[in-house]
Amino acid sequence: MRIDVITLFPEIFQGYLSESMLKRAIQRGVVEVHLHNLRNWATDKHRSVDDTPYGGGPGMVIRVDRVVPCVEDVRKLSEEWGHLILLTPQGRRLNQAIVEELATHRRLVLLCGRYEGFDERVRIILQPDEISIGDYVLNGGEVAAMVIIDAVVRLIPGFLGDEESSRQDSFSGPDRLLDHAQYTRPREYRGHRVPEVLLSGDHQAVARWRQQNRVERTRRRRADLLVLGWQKVWANDRVVCKNQPRSKDESPLPGLLRGGHCGAVWEPTQELPPAAITCQTEGPPVEFHPGEQPPEDKPPVEGGSVNNPQHAEITEETGNESEDHGACGKAIHETGDSPF
Ligand code: ADE
Repeated sequence: MRIDVITLFPEIFQGYLSESMLKRAIQRGVVEVHLHNLRNWATDKHRSVDDTPYGGGPGMVIRVDRVVPCVEDVRKLSEEWGHLILLTPQGRRLNQAIVEELATHRRLVLLCGRYEGFDERVRIILQPDEISIGDYVLNGGEVAAMVIIDAVVRLIPGFLGDEESSRQDSFSGPDRLLDHAQYTRPREYRGHRVPEVLLSGDHQAVARWRQQNRVERTRRRRADLLVLGWQKVWANDRVVCKNQPRSKDESPLPGLLRGGHCGAVWEPTQELPPAAITCQTEGPPVEFHPGEQPPEDKPPVEGGSVNNPQHAEITEETGNESEDHGACGKAIHETGDSPF
């Protein structure tokens, strides 16, 4: 893979590229990284790349007539057109699925911003894939670009040596759950013992334990990964959910709802999360989609009803409450040695 980075601060990348596992990957020819200083595309004697915003306001805006020629010139350096990424807090939020998608490209061109951002015409003309690494604001796109490089290169065949290991990572594989707990020697340390099953030599039992551990950890730490989507439901809606495309699968949401916002929980016993589930209600049918965020006005409450529709949004009718699986944090016995 070829990666081109356009930045006002190429020096920021030097340490990272020359010290990490990346150095060896570059030496082995698995990946090549080229840094381009945007300032080289300035045409005035002050070498300026930014200016004050029209309409007033604080900060400086990076000029479109610097960025567009720069990207065009950089693109010409290789026959491969490349996938252009603009690092911005306003982009789609990076996750492992997006990293996997980016790793399929033979060339990435990463455009790092600074100051108040780019002139809007950069987006209109270049139509980049805008990516954010999280809901917080960095001083610029450089650290975000390094995050993307770091996450993507480990998926390039030949980078890790053992491709299986990235398939077993958290957020990877078909179910995208957190990874299971790991142990190594000694068998006992300060009274904390390694779970017996891992010492048993029974490979099937170990695999079962690990899968159970992944599911339970995910429920406890990141219940949002098990939530397919959120919808407003109305009081006394009778919701019957059927997974698509496995139409025979009853969802974990049968019953009578009290109303409010409700998420559909995907059961990781199935091989793949469904593309969507449709729920028939007494009102209009509602659809849940993977990756939807909980509604702003009703964030999931730790141990509360919104976080786990299996728990409290469903009334007495289903009797589901007693079969709690942990997303709402009850019916799990905390022990000092809990591997979850
Ligand atoms: N630039 C500033 N903040 C950023 C963020 N969160 N993600 C990507 N690029 C950024």
